Amino acid sequence: MQNQKINPTNTQFKPETSKKRVFSGIQPSGDVHLGNYLGAIKGWVGHQTEKENFFCIVDLHALTVPQDPIQLRSQTRSLAAILIAAGIETEKCTLFIQSHVAAHAEACWILNCSTPLGWLERMTQYKDKASNQISVSMGLLDYPVLMAGDILLYDAQEVHVGDDQKQHVELARDIAQRFNHIFGETFTLPKAIIPKTGARVMALNDPLVKMSKSETQLSGHAVGLLDHPDEIKKSITRAVTDSGNEIRFSKEPEKAGVNNLLGIYKVITGKSESDVETDFEDAKGYGELKLRVAEVVIDEIIPIQRRYKRLMGDVGELDNLLAKGAKQAQAISESKLDEIKTKIGLILSKNK
Ligand code: AMP
Ligand code: TRP
Repeated sequence: MQNQKINPTNTQFKPETSKKRVFSGIQPSGDVHLGNYLGAIKGWVGHQTEKENFFCIVDLHALTVPQDPIQLRSQTRSLAAILIAAGIETEKCTLFIQSHVAAHAEACWILNCSTPLGWLERMTQYKDKASNQISVSMGLLDYPVLMAGDILLYDAQEVHVGDDQKQHVELARDIAQRFNHIFGETFTLPKAIIPKTGARVMALNDPLVKMSKSETQLSGHAVGLLDHPDEIKKSITRAVTDSGNEIRFSKEPEKAGVNNLLGIYKVITGKSESDVETDFEDAKGYGELKLRVAEVVIDEIIPIQRRYKRLMGDVGELDNLLAKGAKQAQAISESKLDEIKTKIGLILSKNK
């Protein structure tokens, strides 16, 4: 995994038929944090062998809010390197950049034309994001249709996302159903798969809100995946807890901080809730809880950071891996797009 080399003669992609097909996407905006890693990336790495996976860096989605071009470019490569460093194996799955596969933007346009505007105006993420913008772009409203295109082009059966994205996957299902109804059976209906633990990693400085990319610059909010170990330790030892001393899982709002720290420990160690509580039975207060959580987080992240540095040291090789992924994705999505175009009455070009 650490020394993946691209074999230029081996670009023929052979789709698996017996495995469930999964499409997952992540935006190259902001710094990747522990919430993204535990809520999404770690799960993706875990099911690489048992499923047929398409992992997409959704740069077109990132454009729905203002981006600095230089930063967007560097964050896109950086995210690709993080995914590979975290364990995504490009020999086992298809890892690619959304804008490298033109079928995604084309599918979005076609699906736009059969999606009622009211469906998009009801999306909670749109309403939240739109209320924070001075000027709202068409792209922000259209975001879920582009996402539906991503998923439907590959006939993905499963979409592995954090619970904030469930509504968008359900909309993709509705869009597929409506299209199938109008034009005949075309799309597989996708299902959102939400990881049980780790689905929501909360902010360290406010355990009642989700850890998020837009807040990662604020010290104490998040653990960045590329943060220095000293910084990680500092953020976790400063995490907000409560005035008690009981180290147990709890749904009570006042114990949200302790619950979050235990949840992080649980996902990383893979232990059950009762085993986690047993681990902390003789801990001396929240101070020790925090230090031990910091320790498992740092142990998990350090090898990822090492592999990340190596990958970023050879950007040419990284771009080759992404080009191979795009070729594989093109092979599948272009033939699906032709099927869609034929269904709706477009003439396929002879220039192929
Ligand atoms: P985003 O940062 O919104 O591009 O999200 C990328 C992936 O990480 C999505 O699957 C999200 O649902 C997931 N994710 C984002 N923030 C968190 C969080 N705090 N806890 C768990 N998962 C998250
Ligand atoms: N909207 C998703 C997020 O912010 C990213 C995404 C875009 C996605 N296209 C997708 C996720 C397709 C799953 C499938 O997390």
